[in-house]
Amino acid sequence: MEQADLIWHNGELVAWEDAKVHVLTHGLHYGTGVFEGERAYDTPQGPAIFRHRDHLDRLFKSAELYYMPIPYTLEELRTATHELIAANELRECYIRPIVFRGYGQMGLYPLDSPVEVSIAVWPWGAYLGEEGKRQGVRAKVASWRRISHDSLIPHAKACGQYLNSVLAKIEASKAGYQEAILLDSRGFVCEGSGENVYAIRDGSIVTPPHAAGILDGISRKSLFQIARDLGIEITERDLARAELYLADEVFLSGTAAELVPVREIDDHTIGAGEPGPVTREIQRVFDDALHGRDPRYVEWLDVVKVPSKAV
Ligand SMILES: Cc1ncc(COP(=O)(O)O)c(C=O)c1O
Repeated sequence: MEQADLIWHNGELVAWEDAKVHVLTHGLHYGTGVFEGERAYDTPQGPAIFRHRDHLDRLFKSAELYYMPIPYTLEELRTATHELIAANELRECYIRPIVFRGYGQMGLYPLDSPVEVSIAVWPWGAYLGEEGKRQGVRAKVASWRRISHDSLIPHAKACGQYLNSVLAKIEASKAGYQEAILLDSRGFVCEGSGENVYAIRDGSIVTPPHAAGILDGISRKSLFQIARDLGIEITERDLARAELYLADEVFLSGTAAELVPVREIDDHTIGAGEPGPVTREIQRVFDDALHGRDPRYVEWLDVVKVPSKAV
């Protein structure tokens, strides 16, 4: 992976290679951490974090759901992220804040272990590849079901929960596919290993609802707005697996992947086997929104003030 110079670690800027934790860090053993994945883009207004406040809100909610009081305010983490991007002199980057139970006590009762916070930023290209964004990816429905509401909290972006995505991703990758799509515990379509999923039929978009156990994606929320602004109907409802195969178009959305068309699922060609017109249109407007090129969505940008030497 590409590196940056500095990482924000418990309130200090430290060198990338010095951002270390003890091997008995609670979160390392039991997955007791929550995190975010965000991106900053080089926009005409300067480097800007896409929907920063929404990501920080979700971070605080995820932490609260796992009884982790964050020892900083949302505004402090927002400012820290700005300072970090500026100090690393980055115009575009991926942003990974993580809140975790640190070194203190072992055992499954975590509340006596300290809550630590780190923020890392680094240059990271399209998660499923530039070609995937342009031509579409091949996906496989995983044999692993998405974690359900009665054993974990699908709405939280929590570290241990990602073992579920990891198993699905490995399965898909070993079978020669670029991404996994997980069904929920009832057998309805849920989401990708790190993206929400959408099917298009006769020009309207359908996507699984919260009750299917999705992560409430911030890209998803943005695409709802964009679709409505384009006059494209978008509805949340349960989707049968075969509805994906029979769709005219399918796409995925997530911060790391952005908007990625799916051209094949379980060896069934989707539509014409290439990104369709609705996907293309939404992808274009979303890309403009991310890069600050569409005035309708500039309020989604949190512009980073960069010292003049970094410009
Ligand atoms: C499991 C899962 N679903 C959906 C998403 C998409 O969420 P967002 O658009 O907020 O990045 C992600 C990525 O964060 C994810 O990890």
